[in-house]
Amino acid sequence: MTNILVVPASVDLGIGKRARVQANGSHIALFNVDGQVYAIDDSCPHNGASLLFGKLDGRWVQCPAHGLRFNLATGCLRGGGMNVRAYPVEIAEDCIRITLPTPVTRHQ
Ligand code: FES
Repeated sequence: MTNILVVPASVDLGIGKRARVQANGSHIALFNVDGQVYAIDDSCPHNGASLLFGKLDGRWVQCPAHGLRFNLATGCLRGGGMNVRAYPVEIAEDCIRITLPTPVTRHQ
């Protein structure tokens, strides 16, 4: 079963922007990389740091706490070992839709 989170157009997610939204008590970090929007849990699976302001290198985000790098599309840790949950994103004319599992659970 899935749940659709609708991100309204008022959330500024232009190219190069980031935003945090809340869903079912969890925070989701959104990144617009070259026009492609990615959605991942805003909680590093290593020790829970926010990934929202991590350094970006293409589709990779580096956790600001200890430097682990995660693929924004898949959530996979570079080199393997742990993942952050990544969510499918659909861009519509007036909003962004994120497909979430029901209920949202932390992936650690
Ligand atoms: S909390 Fe992210 S690498 Fe440690």
